[in-house]
Formats: sequence, structure tokens, C-alpha cells
Amino acid sequence: MTSLALRMKESPIGVFDSGVGGLTVVKSLRRRLPNEQIIYLGDTARLPYGTRSPATVERYAIQTASFLESLNIKMLVIACNTASAVAHGTLRAMYPSMPTLGVIQPGAKQAVRASKSGRIGVIGTEATVSSGAYAKAIAGFNPSAEVVSQACPLFVALAEEGWAEHEAATRLIADRYLEPFRGGRVDTLVLGCTHYPILRDVIADVVGPDVVLIDSGDAVAEEAAILLAASEQLRTSLEPCEDQFFVTDAAGRFRRVAELFLGAALERFETVEL
Ligand code: DGL
Repeated sequence: MTSLALRMKESPIGVFDSGVGGLTVVKSLRRRLPNEQIIYLGDTARLPYGTRSPATVERYAIQTASFLESLNIKMLVIACNTASAVAHGTLRAMYPSMPTLGVIQPGAKQAVRASKSGRIGVIGTEATVSSGAYAKAIAGFNPSAEVVSQACPLFVALAEEGWAEHEAATRLIADRYLEPFRGGRVDTLVLGCTHYPILRDVIADVVGPDVVLIDSGDAVAEEAAILLAASEQLRTSLEPCEDQFFVTDAAGRFRRVAELFLGAALERFETVEL
């Protein structure tokens, strides 16, 4: 085996999001690929992405991806639905020899598989919903599926704040946003924003037990595992490795919420300027 191939195998997987939300994808990746090293970048200085124009999100995504690429990653995971919706094609074209995974296609595929009625709900940021990316991806897997979408921008702030299911305010907001999905109007709901699985319990409670919730974190982790195995790029070293976390601002706040969410101290953690 050449030293380049070995370096690639042992190289980390790069993951980015606008904030803590992408840690839901990190959790899925750690579960599915426990031997891999992850480098995570949370672009907290410019969060939220979801209320910005596609051109701005694309510019941010290019900068975050370039930072990770400079750290010799073997795969890029766009753990942000907004960035996946508007910039996946651009990033794929920028790095043709590096697998670049977004969260929209795996989430859409899983939703179509799970839905019996073909009536699928999608919640996401304003930018993700208005891009129509989920509706398009779902139609690609099932052209007769009916998609009902709802932007839930306040969910991002609640997740960043670390307010999960037991806060009365979170429940109140969820009741209002999730009204279109109650009463059997959909049988499947895509959590189309990486922050939303943090609020999973309250969302499940509001829509009821008959609605299957789709979290694209697990779906993208599965796709990453398949791709790495197929290209013989799975890390083989038995040496333990530490994940590395970067943010662009408000490090203390990120660290607090991230450690709460991941249930462990962040191993290596730094603030960077892009
Ligand atoms: N993580 C983003 C997403 O999945 C939501 C947060 C934001 O608006 O930046 O769309």
C-alpha cells in the first residue's frame, strides 16, 4: 500500500455546521464509525445560516469547507441542512476527488422508505424550506409523494440555548409550528435541520406516536460508512484518536451545550478565524 493511501485511511472525516446542531451528526458518526477521527467546525460567528440568502450561505460553506480541507480530511460531511440545500453541488465541484456528503438526500430517502401513506412533512430553516430541496429530493425517490413543509426558525435558538423538551416555552413554540402535522395529516416527519434532533422528544410528543421522525444524521452516517468501506478508506489503526472541535466565536457557550449534548468533555477544542 502506498503511503498516500495509508495517509488517507488514517485521515479524519471533516464535519461542519453553523453551530452545535451538527453534533447530532457527530453522534451518529461516532456510533456508526467508532474508529474514525472527526474534525468538527461550528461556524458560530455567523449562525444562523437559515435566515440568510443562498449566495451568503454558499460563501460561508465554501470558507468552512476550505478550512477543513486544509486539515487533510478524507471526506467532507455537510452537517447542516441549509448549507446542504444551497451549496452541496458547489462543494462537490470544488473537491471532485473527495467524497462530499450532504444531509438532504439521505434524509429524503429514509423518509420515503418510512412513509406508508406518501404524505411526508418536512421542518427546516427558512432557507431550507424555500430552497425546495427536500421536496425535490423526495420526489426523486417517490414522484407521487405529497410534501408539507414548515419553517421553524425559533427551534435553532432553543437548541443552541440547550433548552430541550422540558421547557414550557419550547413546548408552546412546538405546538404552534407543528400544527400542520397533527391529526394524521402526515405519517412521517423529516427533522430537516441538524438542530432539531436536540428537541426530538418535544417534537415527538406534539406530533404523536403515529408519525415517524426522520433524523438524517443516522442516514448520512450509514452512507459515510458504505462509501469509506467501498473505497477501502476505513481507518484501520487501533491507536485511539481524539476528535477535534473548532468554532469561529462564542467558544464557552458552544462548549457548554456541546458537552451537555455529547455527554463528555470535548477533547481538543479551539477558536479559529476563517
Ligand atoms: N444547522 C442549520 C441547518 O441544519 C440550522 C441552523 C442555522 O440556521 O444556522 O439548517
